[in-house]
Amino acid sequence: MAQTVLIRGSGLYTPEHSISNEELVESFNQYVANYNSEHADAIARGDTEPLVPSAAEFIEKASGIKSRYVLDREGVLDPERMRPRLRTRGNDEPSVMCEIGEAACREALAQAGMAAEDVDGVIVACSNMQRAYPAVAVELQAALGIEGWGYDMNVACASAAFGIQTAADAVRNGSARAVLVVSPEICSGHLNFRDRDSHFIFGDAATAVLVTGSETGPEPGDFEVLGTRLRTQFSNNIRNNAGFLNRSEDPPRSDADRLFVQNGRKVFKDVVPMVSELIGGHLRDLDIDPHSVRRFYLHQANLGMNEYIARRVLGRDATRDDAPVILDEYANTSSAGSVIAFHKHRADIAAGDIVVLSGFGAGYSAGSVVMRRH
Ligand code: COA
Repeated sequence: MAQTVLIRGSGLYTPEHSISNEELVESFNQYVANYNSEHADAIARGDTEPLVPSAAEFIEKASGIKSRYVLDREGVLDPERMRPRLRTRGNDEPSVMCEIGEAACREALAQAGMAAEDVDGVIVACSNMQRAYPAVAVELQAALGIEGWGYDMNVACASAAFGIQTAADAVRNGSARAVLVVSPEICSGHLNFRDRDSHFIFGDAATAVLVTGSETGPEPGDFEVLGTRLRTQFSNNIRNNAGFLNRSEDPPRSDADRLFVQNGRKVFKDVVPMVSELIGGHLRDLDIDPHSVRRFYLHQANLGMNEYIARRVLGRDATRDDAPVILDEYANTSSAGSVIAFHKHRADIAAGDIVVLSGFGAGYSAGSVVMRRH
C-alpha cells in the first residue's frame, strides 16, 4: 500500500555574521570611487565609462531586502576584494556545505524526534555546489551516520521543492522510510559583489526538511504532503556559467561571466505568471479553494514578486500572515528561502490547516508542495 508522506521536522543554519544594506553599499561605493579615480584619465577622454554608485534606499525599495547573512563578512566588504574569504578545505576536512547542512539536518532530526537509523536517504538539493563530486549528500550522509544513499540535485532556487517531490516519491513507493532534503546555499560564493544591479541580492543559509512515511500514521504536528507539482521552461534570464569548461584565462579577463547574472525585470514578468498558474492549477486539481489555504511559503527573492504571486492566486492582497517574509533579514537564499519561511512560521499552523510551499527561479523552474497539518 502507498505510504502517507509526512514532513515531520525542519532545520535551519543561519551564519553568525550579517551585512546591512548600508554596509554593503558603503563598500561598493568605495570600490566605485577607487575605480573611477584609477581610471580618471580614460574616463576624462571618454574611453571608459565611469562606474555608478549604489544606494541602500533603492535596494530596499526594489527588493524588500534590508540585510543578509554571509559566511564571511570581511572578504565581501573589503573594496579591494569583494568576495568571501573562505579557506579551501583539505580533502580530509568536512566541506563547508557539509558542515552547514549538517547543522540544519540535526535540528530537523531533533524536531522530528528521529535518529540517523530512521533515515535511508539524503538529498542535497540546492543551487550553489562547491565541487563536482563526490556528491556533498554522500559526505553529509557519512557525517550524520546514515546508512543507505545520498545524491545531489540542482534546480536552482526551486531545488528544495524538487527535492521534496523526489523524497516524497521515494517514501510513497517504499524505496526509503525517510529522506532528508538539505539546501546548503553559499550564495555569496557565486554573487558578483562588483555588479551594481545584483550585488545586494543574495545571502547564505542552510535548511533541511525531514520527509518520512509512517507505519503508525501521522503524529500531531506532522505536515502531510497532499501533492507536489513541478514545472521547468528554459530561459537564459538567470544564469551562472561557473564550471570547468568555462575558465577565463584564455584570453585573461574578469570572472564576471562565471558569476550570477540576471535580467531581473524579465524574470519578474515571466516567473510571476508561471508560478501563480502552477500553484493555482495545483490547488484546483486537489480540489482546494485557494482562499482556504492558511499560509503560502514562497521563495524569497523579491518582495514585489511574492506580493504579485500571492495576489494572483488569492485574488486579493496577501498579508504577511498569509505569505510570511524572511527576505528582509536573509535576502535571497536561493532554494533555502521558502524552507526558512516554513521553518520560522509553522508553529501557529493549526491541525487541519492547508499550507503551500513554493520555490522558483533559474531554469526557469517552479515547484509547489501542498500540505495539511495533523
Ligand atoms: N542602486 C541604485 N540604483 C540602482 C541600483 C542600485 N544598486 N541598481 C539599479 N539601479 C537603478 C537602475 O540604474 C535604474 O535606473 P534608471 O531607471 O534611471 O535607468 C533603476 O534603478 C531601475 O533598475 P532595474 O534594474 O530596472 O530595477 P528593478 O526595479 O527591476 O529591480 C531587481 C531590480 C533585481 C530587484 C528586480 O528586477 C527583481 O528582483 N527581479 C526579480 C529577480 C528574481 O527574482 N530573481 C530570481 C533570482 S533566483
